[in-house]
Amino acid sequence: MVPEEIKILHIDSNHPLLLSQLQEAGFTNHEDFKSSKEEIEAKIHDYNGIVIRSRFKIDKTFLDKATKLQFISRVGAGLESIDCDYALSKKISLIAAPEGNRNAVGEHALGMLLSLFNKLNQADREIRSGHWNREKNRGHELDGKTVGIIGYGNMGKSFAKKLRGFDVEVLCYDILENVGDANAKQVSLEELQQKSDVLSLHIPWTPETDKLVNADYINAFAKPFWLINTSRGKNVVTADLVQALETGKILGAGLDVLEYEKLSFETLFEEDKIPEAFQYLLESDKVLMSPHIAGWTFESHEKLAQTIADKIKELYFGKKAEVKTPNRVTGIGGFFFKSEDPKALRDWYKKHLGLNTDDYGCTFWLKDKEGYDCATQWSPFKSGTNYFSPSEKQFMQNFRVENLEELLATLKQEGVQIIGEMESYDYGKFGWILDIEGNKIELWEPVDKVFL
Ligand SMILES: NC(=O)c1ccc[n+]([C@@H]2O[C@H](COP(=O)([O-])OP(=O)(O)OC[C@H]3O[C@@H](n4cnc5c(N)ncnc54)[C@H](O)[C@@H]3O)[C@@H](O)[C@H]2O)c1
Repeated sequence: MVPEEIKILHIDSNHPLLLSQLQEAGFTNHEDFKSSKEEIEAKIHDYNGIVIRSRFKIDKTFLDKATKLQFISRVGAGLESIDCDYALSKKISLIAAPEGNRNAVGEHALGMLLSLFNKLNQADREIRSGHWNREKNRGHELDGKTVGIIGYGNMGKSFAKKLRGFDVEVLCYDILENVGDANAKQVSLEELQQKSDVLSLHIPWTPETDKLVNADYINAFAKPFWLINTSRGKNVVTADLVQALETGKILGAGLDVLEYEKLSFETLFEEDKIPEAFQYLLESDKVLMSPHIAGWTFESHEKLAQTIADKIKELYFGKKAEVKTPNRVTGIGGFFFKSEDPKALRDWYKKHLGLNTDDYGCTFWLKDKEGYDCATQWSPFKSGTNYFSPSEKQFMQNFRVENLEELLATLKQEGVQIIGEMESYDYGKFGWILDIEGNKIELWEPVDKVFL
């Protein structure tokens, strides 16, 4: 339970789990989805926390009235609608939930890209109006292309992860150093502009990124390219985008966000007159638009609320000690078997099956689910070997495991027969056990994360 009464004002509707979990944890929650900003300002002095989506901007005026405010939590990814510096200067904690909608954004960006490449929306529209145009709707393939991601944070990383199954080169550019990973190689902006066939924006809206993608930026790309924008509309100068679509420098654009959106993202613009550039987007077959819904899925609705509930609770109660049960086996480490003539056998496998053999056999490299390199070893052993003993079998399995020492202790308690003592080498720790049929199993804890 919270030590004193903590009052939270919710000014946007969210998944019901948010309110129920906060209630259960002892917070006092009030909802007000209708009052104007001024009306909320008149009562905010009474609250310790506020939960918003994007209803209005939390500016200096608002913050000056929020005299008891301890936190602002935004049920969304970015905090662009909050005067963060001013809030922090008043020791107000800021909470966002990019973990809740990053998967949705990654999938949406990929969906837009594939729809554009395969002209799905255009073809669908044509069929509905009675046209069966196959040649006009011939598509492009992602295979072999280079995708450039600007802004490699939560959303950029999620999109890169989705691209893992495609044979594409993924590059990223970010103002922070060393953010690249196994899914995207960090490069300079110049290199990205030189190589990319697709540009996907995943940057926040800041004074530096406002109107970032303008004519100069577009023309600095060496090749014509496709643009995907799921970040913020004002990061792109729409008039310059239109010009590039007209000249063919931009081949197509998937836009989940538009320059003309209102801050709340709930409406487009209030003026009656549609700007010329927007009119072009509305009429162009090269453009695919969605109403700021990249992060807006049934799943993210729940995940966003859960993330915020967890973070608010953490703020007041501290982080719960995570009880993590280590995985026992994380993968197959190797396949070992006895052979009359290991060298001849290795040569045979090399010649006929293309195995890349050395004195130890063949190492197969693969990526684990985090994108780290890991290896599986195939090795023939001399038939006289005693490496498999006490097993009399022709084969021995090797499994990669986490925390071998602890696992061996647990297995011992469980009555599993342990063979010999654990051994440590540069490339990891090894232990051996027997299964109920007398098969010897080698357990390998690879030396570092790269191999896990
Ligand atoms: N369309 C949607 O529904 C939706 C949903 C979620 C997030 N978003 C938007 O996606 C964007 C990214 O969100 P995030 O959670 O990944 O943010 P993040 O803070 O996790 O990552 C943004 C990255 O951009 C980098 N960056 C900042 N300025 C840059 C610049 N000038 N050049 C290059 N890199 C720069 C930062 O260093 C950071 O690594 C935000 O604009 C957010 O509002 C949109």
